[in-house]
Amino acid sequence: MRVLVTGGAGYIGSHMVKMLLGQGAEVATLDDLSCGYRDAVVGGEFVKGDTGDRACLDALFGRRKFDAVMHFASFIQVGESVRDPAKYYRNNVTHTLTLLDAMAAHGVRSFVFSSSAAIFGEPDYTPIDEAHPKRPINPYGFSKWAVERVLSDYDRAYGLKSVSLRYFNAAGADPDGQLGERHEPETHLIPLVLQAAAGRRPSVSVFGDDYPTPDGTCVRDYIHIVDLCQAHLLALERLRSSGQSAAYNLGNSRGYSVNEVIRTVEAVTGRTVPVERAPRREGDPAVLVADSKRAMDELGWRPRFNELETIIRHAWTWEQKRHPTATEPGRRQA
Ligand code: UFG
Repeated sequence: MRVLVTGGAGYIGSHMVKMLLGQGAEVATLDDLSCGYRDAVVGGEFVKGDTGDRACLDALFGRRKFDAVMHFASFIQVGESVRDPAKYYRNNVTHTLTLLDAMAAHGVRSFVFSSSAAIFGEPDYTPIDEAHPKRPINPYGFSKWAVERVLSDYDRAYGLKSVSLRYFNAAGADPDGQLGERHEPETHLIPLVLQAAAGRRPSVSVFGDDYPTPDGTCVRDYIHIVDLCQAHLLALERLRSSGQSAAYNLGNSRGYSVNEVIRTVEAVTGRTVPVERAPRREGDPAVLVADSKRAMDELGWRPRFNELETIIRHAWTWEQKRHPTATEPGRRQA
């Protein structure tokens, strides 16, 4: 199978490239390296380019016949999307349209799309199933929902089949220690807490402790990057065998609060994490937990690393490998 992975130099895309190669797929990565890292692409062909560059796409699709495209190339910072929506609509929507149009023109008909729990906005109920109303509350979430709508129209009109995978909180790292999470700037909770544990940042801020949750901090559903990638493989398999477009919510159906994440990091690392209270971050729902029953029933998806402790342990191994000389001011006193 030949798969084009856009954003294959990024966090999720790089793990996907590795897994596809491990399955014997022929893989090409298209990434403009605006957020990704060339050395995170562990094999296959690499093309530096933009998904909005039609000439580049025509050249790529003209050179060989891809069976599918997995599309990870997008901007992901909710706060930035509020400040600079044009950047998000241009890249996440317009460039995706260019990619889809090029696929349609070259007869590539299978598309796996990185969607997000952000399409649901403030949930009416949790766990959140696929039927939950879609009411995004920021441009990032709108950009993902807009593409999902485009995909259902492109299916009807052009026969382009797709699976949209709505990730809850992707976390963790390659259990081999070869790959992990590298965002610049980092905004995600687990890597930030690990950096504080490693002494690479003075403390971690807890954004709000007055939410209607058991300990007052936000609850999220963390899903291991390898389980997430596994779901992509299964989704692509099903898409190709059934010829039916679909959408799945991907999480572990179990939520952990910000305080629980910090405590688990302390337990895994044996370090104390200095914590600061901070105001709520705008646009953060109190609880986001997935109902992933559909993915389990229809795809046969079974997350292997569903313990928060395992997710954090793999991320910690990666953090230590990248920064082996970090000072250890947070080391617990005996
Ligand atoms: N948090 C802190 N301090 C920090 C960073 C985060 O308290 O320094 C809290 C947040 O307020 C939130 C939780 O930790 O309650 C998790 O925050 P992340 O930024 O790690 O993840 P989000 O839940 O905000 O975002 C994730 C994806 C987004 C996606 C969103 C869907 O990273 O791409 O889920 O709602 F849009």
